Amino acid sequence: MKQEIQNALAKYQDVPGALLPILHEVQDALGYVPPEAVGDIAKALNLSRAEVHGVITYYHHFRSESPGRHIVQVCRAEACQAMGAQALFNHAEASLGCSSHGTTADGRVTLEPAYCLGLCACSPAIMIDDVVYARITNAKFDALMGALPLTQAKVSS
Ligand code: FES
Repeated sequence: MKQEIQNALAKYQDVPGALLPILHEVQDALGYVPPEAVGDIAKALNLSRAEVHGVITYYHHFRSESPGRHIVQVCRAEACQAMGAQALFNHAEASLGCSSHGTTADGRVTLEPAYCLGLCACSPAIMIDDVVYARITNAKFDALMGALPLTQAKVSS
């Protein structure tokens, strides 16, 4: 973990506006931004820990805990909301047995909201790891969850 953080710092530390690229790099490498990284990042960028923490918590994209083996994002932006995304999200929480930003008990899936996946014309949409799916019904959601491989997906941002 330390190595991934140091790699991100070495790559972006001297770039203007380095904080976001560093956070993205760390999350791409580890799947999340470990709380232990906050101090190193703050020190390298001459920021306070509170400033780094504030950016991590401001953006929905960043995670502070290790995610499950698959990331399932359900779009909750306007077009998807108009096509039943709230009900779909409720179904996802119930069927997976975890709430928003939570992980299933077996560590298989982390459920997250997303705010537009670029498939507004085919809503509601979800993304599983790095693949988007359109016109999702509860039945399609369940079928996709049932077909998820048990192995680790590529770590995704
Ligand atoms: S609003 Fe859901 S994909 Fe754009």
